[in-house]
Amino acid sequence: MRLTDTSDLWWKTAVVYCADVETFHDTNGDGIGDIEGIGRRLDHLVELGVTCLWLMPFYPTPERDDGYDVVDFYGVDRRLGSLGDVVELVRTAKDRGLRVIADLVVNHTSNQHPWFLEAREDPKSPYHQYYVWREDKPPDTSEMVVFPGEQEAIWTKDRKAGKWYLHHFYRHQPDLNLSNPAVRTEIAKIAGFWLELGFDGFRVDGVPQLLSLGPSNEPKNDDVANPHDVLRDLRSFIGRRRGDAVLLGEVNMPYDQQRTLFGESGAAELDLIFDFVAMQYLYLSLARGDAGALATALKNRPAIRREAQWAVFVRNHDELTLDQLTEAERGEVFAAFGPDPEHQVYGRGLRRRLPPMLGGDQRWLRMVYSLVFSLPGTPTLFYGEEIGMGENLAAPGRHAVRTPMQWSPDPGAGFSTAHPKTFPAPLVEGRFGPEHINVEACRTDPESLFNFLRHLIDVYRRHPELGWGQLEILDQPLPCVLAHRAATGEASIVAVHNFSSDAVSTAVKLPGVQPGHELHDLIAARWRDEPGGRQSSDRPLVVDDEGRVEVQLAARGFRWFGAPQPPGTRGSQAEPPALG
Ligand code: NOJ
Ligand code: CA
Repeated sequence: MRLTDTSDLWWKTAVVYCADVETFHDTNGDGIGDIEGIGRRLDHLVELGVTCLWLMPFYPTPERDDGYDVVDFYGVDRRLGSLGDVVELVRTAKDRGLRVIADLVVNHTSNQHPWFLEAREDPKSPYHQYYVWREDKPPDTSEMVVFPGEQEAIWTKDRKAGKWYLHHFYRHQPDLNLSNPAVRTEIAKIAGFWLELGFDGFRVDGVPQLLSLGPSNEPKNDDVANPHDVLRDLRSFIGRRRGDAVLLGEVNMPYDQQRTLFGESGAAELDLIFDFVAMQYLYLSLARGDAGALATALKNRPAIRREAQWAVFVRNHDELTLDQLTEAERGEVFAAFGPDPEHQVYGRGLRRRLPPMLGGDQRWLRMVYSLVFSLPGTPTLFYGEEIGMGENLAAPGRHAVRTPMQWSPDPGAGFSTAHPKTFPAPLVEGRFGPEHINVEACRTDPESLFNFLRHLIDVYRRHPELGWGQLEILDQPLPCVLAHRAATGEASIVAVHNFSSDAVSTAVKLPGVQPGHELHDLIAARWRDEPGGRQSSDRPLVVDDEGRVEVQLAARGFRWFGAPQPPGTRGSQAEPPALG
């Protein structure tokens, strides 16, 4: 593929890294991570191979939802730094070749936002119409809450206003009223502001709630004939202000609804959407030691417009939601990876990170990340994943996975020189704590997950067909194996993953590939097999007369191959856009 194409649609082969300013690195010793701290650690991201930094909310906030409760969309929380620090960070990141995107949280504001304070005082204020009100008593909406156990309804009566206001999330987060053109203008102004300061786009928070889509979303945008128009308008505004800026959507919905939210060519909506479906079925397959569930999900992945992309991930800062699985399937994942009630949250998710769920099994971990990087899409990492951090279940709810970044074995984990009791969340303890798992140790250990991910990222970036390719699940006889191909018109990659704890050998059918063709391993031999039994040979596999290759895999092993391109491979994902 031409570099001009891959750098043009840069997000299709990006490696995104999500950092929470508060828990990443504290430079002034107050126990709270700060913007300057991210700047000082940028070289860690560069060394890993990250290309795009996603900053979680850094706006002024009363901190009742980890910064997702915003009181000023144009400001920076004083605990974290200043607007000047943000500009310096973005500038330094660019100097290091990194793009930066920010969370755009415009489904709601904090109830402490000056708009809401005025809105509840004065029904005649223009800000009153910034929110969604009802005068009559709402019906029971307990089934519609996003955080069961923490919220009882999505309408709350405001004493001062004497009316109920809508809040899809917490009661302290009143929803903005997108049917009000003034609110839509304000949202564009917010996006324009951060683009002007150098940001490369946004992770759009809670898209279904923002647009009131889906069965559990109370319609709030009555005057908007088509909620998709809101997104199209925002997308087109962003494109006018900054041509290569992107919108990465948080859309935990079934594939057909996600497809709609990508928009059509010429009427784009989101550029990237997290693949929540594949993520959930990946865990089911891992729990079963059977690749079938994931293979079926991936076969249902819809074609998307050629500029768009899936963001592939195994966890984010929230609970690891399993809400799209059936209750029985979710039960299987819980039983395998989070059997204790304290592992679970909201009846639908896990508040654990991957390494403890897999019992610290390094081979299994590598296999999961190998999958993440080999599925067509843009891999997205949550801070700490690169070193194999665990969680601290003593932290409340979702905070279990939002513990301070582990830089060194020092008492403050190299995160801060302050006393750990002043930290925003407790450090991880035990086997996955900073004494054992930290950046310093990972950098010097050639066998570390960090060094493995560096290798994966290197191979991923050198083979853009992994981002651009059309996905095809390949036939082979073993239920425990997933074999897939990512192909563009020019080249293809074949990846084979073994979900079982036994070594296997399987015959993978490669439609369109001539007998005698050779497949070359792309992952270095030292990472392909377990210690002690490593394959030293880099002999290519040869396609037999039936168009198959016999692939040997270690227990939870994986292999990636460069393969000849199958004939007639075209399609929305594969075609580069016309230049000029
Ligand atoms: C989605 C965010 O990912 C989550 O952390 C937050 O609690 C909700 N939006 C509400 O703001
Ligand atoms: Ca600080």
